[in-house]
Amino acid sequence: MRFKSLKGIQDILPPETYIWQHLEHTSRKVFEKYGYKEIRLPIIESSDVFTRSIGETTDIVEKEMYTFPDKGNRSITLRPEGTAPFVRAFVQHHLYNEPSPQKYYYMGPMFRYERPQAYRYRQFYQIGTEALGTEDPKLDIEVISMLANILKKIGLKKFTTEITSIGCKECRPHYKTALKKALKNKLNDFCEDCNRRYEFNPLRLLDCKVPSCVKARTVAPAIIDFLCAQCTHHFETIKHNLELLNISYVVNPNLVRGLDYYTRTAFEVTSEALGSQKAVAAGGRYDRLVKDFGGPPTPGIGFAIGIERIIPLIKKSIVHDVYPDLFICSLGREASDRGFIMTEQLRNRGLWVEMNYDELSLRSQMRKADRIKAKNVIVLGEDELKKGKILIKDMQNKKETEVALETEEILKAVSNKK
Ligand code: HAM
Repeated sequence: MRFKSLKGIQDILPPETYIWQHLEHTSRKVFEKYGYKEIRLPIIESSDVFTRSIGETTDIVEKEMYTFPDKGNRSITLRPEGTAPFVRAFVQHHLYNEPSPQKYYYMGPMFRYERPQAYRYRQFYQIGTEALGTEDPKLDIEVISMLANILKKIGLKKFTTEITSIGCKECRPHYKTALKKALKNKLNDFCEDCNRRYEFNPLRLLDCKVPSCVKARTVAPAIIDFLCAQCTHHFETIKHNLELLNISYVVNPNLVRGLDYYTRTAFEVTSEALGSQKAVAAGGRYDRLVKDFGGPPTPGIGFAIGIERIIPLIKKSIVHDVYPDLFICSLGREASDRGFIMTEQLRNRGLWVEMNYDELSLRSQMRKADRIKAKNVIVLGEDELKKGKILIKDMQNKKETEVALETEEILKAVSNKK
């Protein structure tokens, strides 16, 4: 084969595309009920949009970005995630002037140069949301509840919502000190990257996937034990209200996010059925990001669902059984021309109609109608043209109905059975 898609990048073919549409459509419906509006963001951005926000010492920025110079020698990056471009747009267009909370959603491809494996791709799609304008934990609860709602509505039966708090600029420095102290004598067991990050960003040591690092960090204290009074109150309020709303969750004090912009609430929804890439969605609070981008201090929270990780989990439960209403078989030039006009007219009137363009035997045309599971078939030949009448055959019960060879009559007869 001459050309193939790139490693870790896949084509999405029908009928799977129908499941994607189901997922997108259902999410949009839920977003509407919560007042989220769609925002469409560029796929490429100036590289510093990501380096400054995601964090210079994260895996994404250090290893995974598709970064290249454009023809004007500007450093451009294919977006690895949606929050940074969103906040860039939020500040650029002064969206903070809209009534608070401001709520947006987006859908589209993201790019990370990761080692491809099952459910981990280099181009993958996210459905993301961002809500800004308040620190109130009610917004956190709303966001977590909305995510659970979407996942249930799209047909995901088993999932776990893991939550934690990673503190704020008041309490996190105390945690960092304690973490560094706990890991100091273990640095030989950590990889080179971790040793480098230990000084500037020790929290990243909690995110490293190298097996020896995972083992070495079991002695690390939990950030949840270092939260200040406000962060503790924020987190306790969230947990309490999730219980009131009957939203099941587990506290995972070891939950670490691969992005530096988070503050306080962080969460991940996981499914054991996916193996090692078990996060189907993830998100958290980012109360400082808008200010870092030059906007007024505006707290925010959001999440992104990984579409490729959801599809295999709901595939079996989504049945796409929509088939053509009518297949027109035609015999001879004149019948084919007449059939073609009728096909177009009936489509304009709301029917799904198919016909054959190449000259084929009646048998081949019938076989084709059968393969595409057309619900009704008509055979248009010299006789039908002469008599001005046609038989509509219902392919399920094999019954035939005779009607005048008129678009309106056929429309009526086929629509009646729909
Ligand atoms: P993230 O955890 O990097 O967060 O990604 C969110 C989700 O995208 C993951 O839970 C996973 O389902 C999916 N995902 C990530 N990488 C891949 C991959 N290589 N292949 C397939 N799926 C993948 C963010 O991106 C944040 N921007 C989420 C957010 C929004 N936080 C606040 N607002």
